[in-house]
Amino acid sequence: MADVEVYGKMLSTLPDDDDHPYRSGAWRPQNVEYDADDLRVEGELPDDLYGVYLRNTENPLHPAIVRYHPFDGDGMIHKVSFRDGKVSYRNRFVRTDGLLAEQEAGRSLWAGLAENPSAALRQDGWGARGRMKDAASTDVIVHAGVAVASFYQCGDLYRLDPLTLDDLGKCSWGGSFPSDLGVSAHTKVDGRTGELLFFNYSTTAPYLHYGVVDAGNHLVHYVPIDLPGPRLPHDMAFTEHHAILNDMPLFWEPDLIARGLYAARYHPELPARLGVIPRRGGPGDIRWFEFEPTYVLHWVNAFQDGDEVVVDGFFQGCPEPAAAGAGGPEGRMWRFLAQDAMQTRLHRWRMNLVTGATSEQDLSDSCTEFGTINGGFGGRPYRYTYAATNEPGWFLFNGLVKHDTLTGREERYQFEPGVFCSEVGVAPRVGGTEEDDAYLVTLTVDMNRDLSECVVFRASDVGRGPIARAQLPERIASGTHSCWAPGDSLRGWA
Ligand SMILES: [Fe+2]
Repeated sequence: MADVEVYGKMLSTLPDDDDHPYRSGAWRPQNVEYDADDLRVEGELPDDLYGVYLRNTENPLHPAIVRYHPFDGDGMIHKVSFRDGKVSYRNRFVRTDGLLAEQEAGRSLWAGLAENPSAALRQDGWGARGRMKDAASTDVIVHAGVAVASFYQCGDLYRLDPLTLDDLGKCSWGGSFPSDLGVSAHTKVDGRTGELLFFNYSTTAPYLHYGVVDAGNHLVHYVPIDLPGPRLPHDMAFTEHHAILNDMPLFWEPDLIARGLYAARYHPELPARLGVIPRRGGPGDIRWFEFEPTYVLHWVNAFQDGDEVVVDGFFQGCPEPAAAGAGGPEGRMWRFLAQDAMQTRLHRWRMNLVTGATSEQDLSDSCTEFGTINGGFGGRPYRYTYAATNEPGWFLFNGLVKHDTLTGREERYQFEPGVFCSEVGVAPRVGGTEEDDAYLVTLTVDMNRDLSECVVFRASDVGRGPIARAQLPERIASGTHSCWAPGDSLRGWA
C-alpha cells in the first residue's frame, strides 16, 4: 500500500475491551480518518471503471446513555475512487451538529433507538420521534454532483465533496429545506432528469410529506400526504411519471406514543398499502392500493408496464420477530436486524391505474435484501438486481445474489466464512450498453486477516468472484447503505 496519511482522529470514549455485539468484531468502530492515494491493486483493475463508490457506516464514539443500537452510531463515509487505472481511498465522519456537540461534551447527549427519549440529556434533537441525534449514518447518494448523507429517522441532509469528502454543510435548498420535520433516508435520484425525490414522516398529522428537488438543487414540490396515523416508512420508489409511497402495517403503537414511548408493532389484520402519486401531484392525486400485509424495508426499483405500475422490493414473511428466544429483549432487537429472521424475499407488486386491479408475487424464494441496480435503469424497465445474503442472526452480509427478474435465474457468490461485504455499487462499464455490462464494487470486513478491501466483480459473472482487490488502510466497521456515482456525474471530476 502506498501514500497513506492520517487526516484526523475523533475523540472516542469507548472502552478498549468493548464487547457489545454491534461495537466489536465486524462492527468494531473506527475513529481515525485516512487519505490513501494509489492503493496497490491485486488482480485485473478494469480501465473502464470510472467513478466513485461511497459507503456509509455507523461508528459510535461514546458509550450510549443506557443501551446502544447500531443505528445510533455516527455516520462515516468511505470513498473509493477509480480513475485511469488508479484507486484512491478516503474516509470521513459526517460532521453533524450532534457529533460536534458530543465531541465537545465527551459523551453521548441524545437517547438512541433502543432508549427512552426521556433519557436524553438534551431537550432538543432530530428524528420522527424527536430528541434523537441525527447521525447521518444511514444512506449516501449523489445529487447535483455532491454526496449527500441522510438518516433513517429524518433529519438534515449533509453534503460532502464527493472526491475529497470535505464538509459542504447541510442542504438548504435555497432556504426551503423542511427543517421542522427533516428528510428521511432513501431520497431517490432520477439520473435522467437530475431530480431528487424525497419524503419525511412524523408522529403528528399529516404524518407524511413528499417532495421534489430539481437538478439545480431547488425545492420545486412539497406536499402533505394523509395517512390513518403515524407510520414508519423507510424507503420509496419512482417511475418515469410517478412516485410510490407506502403505508405498511408495522408502526409505533399510537397509545404508547402518547406516553412518550416508541415501540413498533406489526398489525397483520391491516393491509400493506402502496400510494401512487404523479411526480408533481397534489395531496388529492395519490391513489392507494392494498396488498397482503407485510413490511418492506427496501424497494429495488419501479417502472410502468402499460396501464400498470410495477414495484419490486423485499417482502418480509415475519416483520415482527418473536419476543421469545435467545438473548431476551436484546436478542429480539438483534432479530429485527437479521434478514433471515424477517424472512425477506424479492417480491413484485402490480397496480393497474385504469382498472384499480392489483396482483403480487414472489420473484424468488431466496432470503436476500439490500438489492441494488444499474442506476441508468432507475424508474424504468429493468432486469437485474444484486442483493445480499446475511450471516444468520446478524446484520452482516456474507454473499451476493444476482437476481434475473425476467427468468428467475440466480447467480451467487459466497464469501469465505468470516468475510463480510457491503451493499454493492453497480458501476456501468464506460461505453457499455447492456444492463449487466457493469462492475460491482463492495468493501469487505475480513475478520480472518483483520483487514478491509475494496473488491470488484464483473456484474455479468458474479459467480467468478472478485477480479480485483485493493486493501484499505484499516479494517472498517460494517454499516448500512452505499452508492456508485459515475465520474462525469461528480462536481470537480473533470
Ligand atoms: Fe435503508
